[in-house]
Amino acid sequence: MSLPKPLIAGNWKMNGLLASRNEIDAILAGAAAAAGGRADLLICPPATLVAGFAAISAGSLLAIGGQDCHPKVSGAHTGDIAAEQLRDAGAAFVIVGHSERRADHGESDAMVRAKAEAALRAGLVAIVCVGETRTERDAGETLNVVATQVAGSLPEATAPQTVVIAYEPVWAIGTGLTPTAADVAEVHGEIRRLLRDRFGPAGDGIRLLYGGSVKPDNAAELLAVANVDGALIGGASLKAKDFLAIAAAAPQR
Ligand code: PGA
Repeated sequence: MSLPKPLIAGNWKMNGLLASRNEIDAILAGAAAAAGGRADLLICPPATLVAGFAAISAGSLLAIGGQDCHPKVSGAHTGDIAAEQLRDAGAAFVIVGHSERRADHGESDAMVRAKAEAALRAGLVAIVCVGETRTERDAGETLNVVATQVAGSLPEATAPQTVVIAYEPVWAIGTGLTPTAADVAEVHGEIRRLLRDRFGPAGDGIRLLYGGSVKPDNAAELLAVANVDGALIGGASLKAKDFLAIAAAAPQR
């Protein structure tokens, strides 16, 4: 089976205003040269910008996604957004279970799974995030923690076209620290093994992103690691130049 095409995904978190469309315009202008045919490109802006960015990116090489969704289709959930509403706004993907949501909003694996199921129901690709804390890594618990999160957070209907997994060590997010290539290979190899066990050969086609302090200067090394099928990028995705430089580092497959 051929290796999945890399996905270069930006997570803008709580950053960006209407004026930030300049960055999207710059990504659209540079997308073909940076990644045309080699990698899929995605930006997940704050919810206020999804519809506008999706409109200007329609038919381009850049997809737009949300950063979170509620498990339900609609109802009395003030401040929440349904996967169907993201889809209606033009999103094609949604991130679920980012460590900042797990920490700030107490999201459990069961909640993350319900959100991922909502994404599938709405026709969005779910990017399910997992990753250990520094304390867990120091205690030698990384593989156990990640295995538990993978087991509990993925929908039964997980398939290459519907789910992407992002391994993001919590201690690497926004810190400038990254695991070694060998550490990334170990965790991604274990996730791949778990996916094969549970989903059979389809497990080979599920994209596994690495996230946590991916920058233009470390992207080529991280993207070349076995079982790394792209990156989830926070800070460096806010600047089109850096995002495109990371996309340009994606290997040809
Ligand atoms: P970072 O964030 O690239 O700023 O470390 C990654 C993420 O949280 O997805």
